[in-house]
Amino acid sequence: MKIAVLRETRAGESRVAASPETVKKFAALGASVSIERGAGEGANYLDHVFSEAGATISGTLAETISGADLIIGVRAPAADSMNRFQRGQKIVAIVSPHSNGDVLQAAAGAGVDLFAMDLMPRITRAQSMDVLSSQSNLAGYKAVIDAAAYYGRAIPMMMTAAGTIAPAKMFIMGAGVAGLQAIATARRLGGVVSATDVRWAAKEQVESLGASFVTVDEEAMKGAETSGGYAKEMSADFQRRQAEFVGKHIAKQNIVVTTALIPGRPAPRLVTEEMVRSMAPGSVIVDLAVEQGGNVALSRRGEVIDVGGVIIIGFENVPGRLATDASSLYAKNLFNFVAAFFDKEKKEFVVDENDDIIKGVALTRAGAIIHPNFIPAPIAGEGATHG
Ligand code: NAI
Repeated sequence: MKIAVLRETRAGESRVAASPETVKKFAALGASVSIERGAGEGANYLDHVFSEAGATISGTLAETISGADLIIGVRAPAADSMNRFQRGQKIVAIVSPHSNGDVLQAAAGAGVDLFAMDLMPRITRAQSMDVLSSQSNLAGYKAVIDAAAYYGRAIPMMMTAAGTIAPAKMFIMGAGVAGLQAIATARRLGGVVSATDVRWAAKEQVESLGASFVTVDEEAMKGAETSGGYAKEMSADFQRRQAEFVGKHIAKQNIVVTTALIPGRPAPRLVTEEMVRSMAPGSVIVDLAVEQGGNVALSRRGEVIDVGGVIIIGFENVPGRLATDASSLYAKNLFNFVAAFFDKEKKEFVVDENDDIIKGVALTRAGAIIHPNFIPAPIAGEGATHG
């Protein structure tokens, strides 16, 4: 079986879907790996390192994917390039299907079977394939490091002969995978850390990391988690009270990192312009949700802006700012997924349509969109009786 590794085409995507370690592991399974020239450059995995690990370096996309059964990438190919793939080829990548309906349509149109790593179900068996966790963890760490880099003061308390420097007050909003790593990193830097979330389970996790938990309504939090472990959208009343409470807390903070997301929905707006302006000049806000619409009113995708002396950081693809580690972990997530469905005797990737993991990630098959959450609704009026 041939596995092809794409060179990413999206601007600013520094990650790659394979590492020298996973190339060796694929070879040990009995698969050959073809990598598009320069695919690993952004992650410091040079062609000769991949080649020494056993991969073939191919000069063009056409050569890389020719005869490949399975194609792996960080991001799914753009809709307008889907027709470059052969019918029946399987592509596994991060798809963001909620906002990329055109990619699903194009994959179905091209007869390509598309699998979304970002739809991996959160079940124990799939933990080692959970790309959202592996990447969010790095993003949470890097968000705090970025905040520290823009903060014009020291973070830990320092007692010197010339006087005492007070520790930075750091507030983490959203205590999922990214938020918990942000808390741990902020604590390691010596900040005084507080955090909030809408899920009840988050309270204990925040406190176990030595941060204080702030909330308006503990009772409302008890019903805020879906069976999949994600947050639900909270009531308008909760949101109003949360905003009032958070507003007072934020005014006293030096650094705020927001990580709050609701799957398939725009990110909740947690920090208003008024709250931003209530912070002291020199404060820093990092909006990790900027690509999903942002948790902070004024944040801008891919930009660092200054609002009356308050810096708002809106970097895109934050895991990609740690490209080597992010690639290594993502490549391992992919390998674990492929290995779980690899028939060792036939030496093939065999899709078991009844498996919960496949049901979770399979978007298109044999020319159609098959994922129940993304099957297009019938066109209005179609099949209706006109009279
Ligand atoms: P996420 O990236 O979807 O959201 C980030 C955080 O924002 C979540 O903790 C969410 O509760 C919070 N949030 C949403 N709306 C908010 C609001 N209005 N105010 C404050 N916070 C808000 O979530 P993530 O990080 O992917 O994971 C959520 C949880 O899923 C984890 O904490 C964990 O319990 C569970 N999980 C389970 C895994 C497994 O079983 N394999 C793997 C990873 C996570």
